[in-house]
Amino acid sequence: MLHEYGFDFYEKMAHWSFDEFGIHEECLTDWDLYGLLKALATKDSRILDLGTAGGEKIFSFFPDCAEILGTDFSPAMIATARAALAKSGRKNISFRVMDNLRMDVPDEHFDIITARHTCTDAAQVFKALRPGGHFLIRGVDKYDCWGLKLIFGGGQEYNEPVPISIVEYEGLLNAGFADVELVPIHTREFFKDRGMFKAFLETVPILEGVCGDGEPVNEALLDEYIAKNTIGGRIILYRNYYGISARKLG
Ligand SMILES: C[S@@+](CC[C@H](N)C(=O)[O-])C[C@H]1O[C@@H](n2cnc3c(N)ncnc32)[C@H](O)[C@@H]1O
Repeated sequence: MLHEYGFDFYEKMAHWSFDEFGIHEECLTDWDLYGLLKALATKDSRILDLGTAGGEKIFSFFPDCAEILGTDFSPAMIATARAALAKSGRKNISFRVMDNLRMDVPDEHFDIITARHTCTDAAQVFKALRPGGHFLIRGVDKYDCWGLKLIFGGGQEYNEPVPISIVEYEGLLNAGFADVELVPIHTREFFKDRGMFKAFLETVPILEGVCGDGEPVNEALLDEYIAKNTIGGRIILYRNYYGISARKLG
């Protein structure tokens, strides 16, 4: 089970736009959930996207195929996704409210299940996949923005003894998955100025428990981080994600 933030947090997030922070991102590694998805999918595939939010990733990256179901426990997110679907002209896509931890989909129905930056339950995903089906995950790891978290003395997963990637990796093996592969993903995010960086930190849950979600950032600690992580006038945030691919034996 991964990153279970409150329901209210995600209901509010349905109205966020990250464009306002002017972030430029560079990826240093090449594990790509959507590249793998495209390689695995055929026109007959049935795909389930868990924690789909407003369906943005489905419209941008999921190939046309027999069935795509996007689910989220936030009714606000699903309303956004359905509105976007009506405008998209895409076929064979539907959205509905569902808690990832109480999945109510038919057994052995999906060829591919994806979960990007959301929580999952390995045993329930295993049940929903047809034999030979694939599960693709991308997550935010304990050591994401670690330099920042050390300066602030807290944040997402800061006190977890075992990185969430390892917990999830072992969960998949224990649930019966085969070919389970865990891959680190490193990216850099560049911010144009202190104001945008600060606003970003006060919005997202990276410094959860310390600030964020509307709570102000400690200015002195922010300046300490910026002094150590500014190159060419741009503030850098070092992101640490992970990808996992797994297969249910056919
Ligand atoms: C960080 S967003 C990621 C959205 C999308 N997958 C993406 O990659 O852009 C996390 C999403 O997971 C959803 N979520 C979190 N916990 C959930 C749960 N237990 N069941 C279903 N959805 C959940 C949230 O409502 C939110 O839309």
